Amino acid sequence: MSSLTITPISLALGAQISGVDVSAPLNLEQRDAIEQALLKHQVLFFRDQPITPQQQARFAANFGDLHIHPIYPNVPEQPEVLILDTAVTDVGDNAIWHTDVTFLPNPAMGAVLSAKLLPAVGGDTLWASGIAAFEALSKPLQNLLTGLTATHDFTRSFPVERYGTTPADLARWEEARQKNPPVSHPVVRTHPVSGRKSLFVSEGFTSRINELSGSESETLLKFLFAHATRPEFIVRWRWQANDIAFWDNRVTQHYAVDDYRPQRRVMQRATILGDVPF
Ligand code: OGA
Ligand code: MN
Repeated sequence: MSSLTITPISLALGAQISGVDVSAPLNLEQRDAIEQALLKHQVLFFRDQPITPQQQARFAANFGDLHIHPIYPNVPEQPEVLILDTAVTDVGDNAIWHTDVTFLPNPAMGAVLSAKLLPAVGGDTLWASGIAAFEALSKPLQNLLTGLTATHDFTRSFPVERYGTTPADLARWEEARQKNPPVSHPVVRTHPVSGRKSLFVSEGFTSRINELSGSESETLLKFLFAHATRPEFIVRWRWQANDIAFWDNRVTQHYAVDDYRPQRRVMQRATILGDVPF
């Protein structure tokens, strides 16, 4: 038996987990208990978990292969762990509702984010449940959306103006853009394990609903972006140093509140690849 304690912190999603040392190798029971908790609560929070990049990558690798991000700087000896440091990168692109790396044909199943250095106050992160958002829609709109597909475009969150300022950055950005052409995903995604349906569009990467006219798509996406992020579907996390968040990226989106600068904030993320959405 694993001895995890799971304390929900909001109704739509989010639970705090204690009784496990994330820095140590997990046994099978612990791994499965965490996976079950993730399926149910969609985002898990662990307090007081100092962790090295190597340990973070090992924890994340319990749940799938890890992704190396094409744009963000990473830990040189552990490139699967990327660094969000306001002293190094303009992380403003995370202050928009987004699901990570949906510009990939197989976007992340999840991500593990570790808080290293925090402002005295501010810099919270919000997650929204796409399951709660979908379930709150009327049946006719659910039916309309089911079967539609949308385009997800890398350049929406990583525009050349922000990521191509030096010749070296421009070359890196251009390579990333060529390797990550726009992809289509279903607007309503079925969770591959739980079978639950989730709204799967986000402002960060979704540029249009393919089957609709330009103005229909624009209007409907505007509604869906607003609907998906209603307070009822959200949990807001106030970080402490050495907190870890682990989210199910298949059914959630998130927003990093950009209210603390010029204070510095440093986070590290390991991203777990998932399957092709259906
Ligand atoms: C991320 C992200 C949120 C944060 O790591 O994917 O969006 O609070 N970061 O830094
Ligand atoms: Mn993100």
